Amino acid sequence: MRLETTIEAGGRGAPGYMHELLSELGDAALAAEGLAGQYGVFLLLTDDKGIRAINRRARGLDRATDVLSFPSVRYKAGTARDNSAQLRREYDPQTRCVHLGDVVLSVDRALEQAAAFGHSLAREMGFLFVHGLLHLLGYDHEEAAQGNIMRGMEEDIMNRVGLDRTLTDDDFTLVSTARKAMELAYAPYSHYRVGACVRAADGRLFKGCNVENASFGLSICAERNAMTTAVAEGATAFTAIAIAAEGAMPSPCGACRQFMREFARDMRVILVNGESIQETTLSRLLPDSFGPEALGKES
Ligand code: THU
Repeated sequence: MRLETTIEAGGRGAPGYMHELLSELGDAALAAEGLAGQYGVFLLLTDDKGIRAINRRARGLDRATDVLSFPSVRYKAGTARDNSAQLRREYDPQTRCVHLGDVVLSVDRALEQAAAFGHSLAREMGFLFVHGLLHLLGYDHEEAAQGNIMRGMEEDIMNRVGLDRTLTDDDFTLVSTARKAMELAYAPYSHYRVGACVRAADGRLFKGCNVENASFGLSICAERNAMTTAVAEGATAFTAIAIAAEGAMPSPCGACRQFMREFARDMRVILVNGESIQETTLSRLLPDSFGPEALGKES
């Protein structure tokens, strides 16, 4: 999906990874709808004041709301998947895509609702965006039966991206820090850049990237780099690690699994590439493991 995001002053509460996350949700929505090809959506992130003004102008309703959508395509019946011929006619050769419409989102509202529901801002903004986007694809919830279908789609799309209740805002901070570390990778030989960010039991974050060497065997992986940095700062217990790569989904190599096991009998492992997020645990990645307690040391 070609998602063009405009952030108004009042929408700045949105974390930096949001555009990427929402683009990913957009792709998942198109896949769930069975649409192939290039589709465009304009997204405006604003605050309560901004969305209230738009609500007043467009619908005569002088009140703030969480999300508004303005479809560009009017489907006679059904949803986008039932109207492929019409969508083909909407193709704009200049932008090289079919513009589906605009979504406006209040970051103020998303923050309030995330706190009220006790889940992450990423999940709340993701959900609101998917809801608005489904309206652009012809979904509605005026009637109960239609509403159920729309909710089923929302759930399916959120699951495709791994945006379920288990990923918190802290997790997304971990992921975006791992992504930043990836930018610093020294990988002139494999060209496979990897970044990792580990969270210590005391809450501190430590990052690392892969550092390769002309003598190939001396290369060090991002995970071990992050772990040794943490130990050098006095952290020896960990609760989670995020590992980010471009291209293929990363998965810690065998050596790194054992290295992490030294300091964590178990911890959550979040794996990301440019396309999706997966969540697993160290004990799943390294079952029946050997650790320091076998040698009389507490891990
Ligand atoms: N690499 C990592 O940093 N972490 C992983 O989980 C897998 C592999 C690095 C090592 C090397 O620099 C490059 O990726 C290709 O193996």
